[in-house]
Amino acid sequence: MQLTVNGSSHDVEVEPDTPLLWVIREELGLTGTKYGCGVAQCGACTVLVDGSPRRSCITPASTVEGADIRTIETVEETETGRRVVEAWVANQVPQCGYCQSGQVMAATALLTNNPNPTDEEIGSAMTNLCRCGTYNKIRAAVRTAAEA
Ligand code: FES
Ligand code: FES
Repeated sequence: MQLTVNGSSHDVEVEPDTPLLWVIREELGLTGTKYGCGVAQCGACTVLVDGSPRRSCITPASTVEGADIRTIETVEETETGRRVVEAWVANQVPQCGYCQSGQVMAATALLTNNPNPTDEEIGSAMTNLCRCGTYNKIRAAVRTAAEA
């Protein structure tokens, strides 16, 4: 099947129900997107599909043929993505870092669609889990990026 990832078209030989996450990591070698739970709970595997956050561990690859799939590797190519990454650095959000690519993707989707989210909107959009408990810094960084 043909998948468009980070602006490039890729011909991948996988079963239609292969999770998008496996294609991204194993076939394309883009290892910034992480495997956490595998059951849509943690958000470590979050990528953007046509600008919306998607948990790639439960997304069959065949369902995103023709879509614009973006991973953490090129998130800084958009103005909003760049601001999010800069805000993450400025607020020193990451601890172990494992969950953070998914967090950055979720924040980028949020701010792209809603440049000035309320605290409530941030809370309901940022559902990704962080075992290090960086939630307060994540909220601060989303506000920094929104104000930038
Ligand atoms: S690995 Fe996909 S949500 Fe946890
Ligand atoms: S920074 Fe360690 S899991 Fe989030």
